[in-house]
Amino acid sequence: MAQLWGGRFTKETDQLVYNFNASISFDQKFYKEDMEGSMAHVKMLAATGILTEEERDEILAGIEGILQDVESGKLEITSEYEDIHSFVEANLIERIGDAGKKLHTGRSRNDQVALDMKLYTRKEIVNLKGLVKDLLYVLQDLMKEHIDTFMPGFTHLQKAQPITLAHHFGAYMEMFKRDYERLCDIYERMNYCPLGSGALAGTTYPLDRNMTAELLGFKGPTLNSMDSVSDRDYVIELLSALSTIMMHLSRFSEEIIIWNSNEYRFVELDDAYSTGSSIMPQKKNPDIAELVRGKTGRVYGALMQILTTMKGIPLAYNKDMQEDKELTFDAIDTVKGCLALFTGMIRTMTVNKTAMENSAKNGFTNATDAADYLVNHGVPFRDAHGIVGQLVLYCIEKGISLDEMTLEEYKKISPVFEEDIYEAISLETCVEKRTTIGAPSREAIEKVIAINEEYLANL
Ligand code: ARG
Repeated sequence: MAQLWGGRFTKETDQLVYNFNASISFDQKFYKEDMEGSMAHVKMLAATGILTEEERDEILAGIEGILQDVESGKLEITSEYEDIHSFVEANLIERIGDAGKKLHTGRSRNDQVALDMKLYTRKEIVNLKGLVKDLLYVLQDLMKEHIDTFMPGFTHLQKAQPITLAHHFGAYMEMFKRDYERLCDIYERMNYCPLGSGALAGTTYPLDRNMTAELLGFKGPTLNSMDSVSDRDYVIELLSALSTIMMHLSRFSEEIIIWNSNEYRFVELDDAYSTGSSIMPQKKNPDIAELVRGKTGRVYGALMQILTTMKGIPLAYNKDMQEDKELTFDAIDTVKGCLALFTGMIRTMTVNKTAMENSAKNGFTNATDAADYLVNHGVPFRDAHGIVGQLVLYCIEKGISLDEMTLEEYKKISPVFEEDIYEAISLETCVEKRTTIGAPSREAIEKVIAINEEYLANL
């Protein structure tokens, strides 16, 4: 048991209490950030005359040595220490003696851990942004490739109107663009430094908080010491953004699973991204997509946990807040894994254009366009809707599609129909006529692709 606070105690901590309280098993994840924060703190302590330059240099060399030894595996972070902060301080004192005892001057573990958690999540936001960006690039390539890949658009999972695969991918492009921007916003909002807030009420030392904030790449120091040590809003915001990313990935996964099914065969997942069955030799399963869908619950769980943990905590620091770490780390790692795998999976899957096009052809996805044809010939829309309803019923009974009806058959239901009906309800026409901003025609999609191109170039 190595702890920083034995002085006022007359008894040893019970081993079970010690274990229950300790956080080293998980807060060692930010050992680097902890040491980075300590180095900035020590530089500031020397600059303000609280430590001498010699003491500063000794401490900096000591921490750098610890960092190197941890990274090379020479020094192991063990459960002998209560937390990562104690581990670093104890090792420092062991290495450099008395100067090491001055490291914690003007600091509390409360502002230290607030800083470590911020540095860690800030770094991970950059990594997450990189992974979302990779996905956006793949989606942009897929959009360019599938401008003419016709498919049915669905509502209620029923064929509705014809679209293209570029248009479908474009919907996800918009979702992940928003996800990217959410991560940027969180980064900006959280980027203020809590170091120097002490336990809760600042310190009596003349700390230069602007200096530490600047050394650590923050926009400036936080403005209230109580808030600084007890703010975990950025964790909540991040987990909320991650939950939204997972919701998007999960919806997309669900579609991939459906498209990859034996009944649809719209896409075929690459062998490298599929798995087999131990009993059924014919099986090729979309496990990656299913796992992404499944892991969404895990990330939502982390968000619910931190919201619930924070709701009853009076100001300022309380130990409850130690619970901010494990599930947050797990959620970040989960989302990083899901983003990377999902991106690879859609980049390598094969699209079955014929199956998609045939499916669009035989589901009456052009029924709205047949009604629009009548409207363009003077029939009020509600009447046109009724007439086309009769056409569809007729086709269902005969087992044919709208384009397979003869003109005589059309005319029996409404004399307004002429030879040009076939052209008006062809798949190409149905898509190409939809030229409004955000619609599926080539013209509209190419405009969006150009906007996205510029968007990606500026990320
Ligand atoms: N392990 C603690 C945490 O994660 C560090 C802060 C401890 N502060 C304290 N007053 N006990 O929150």
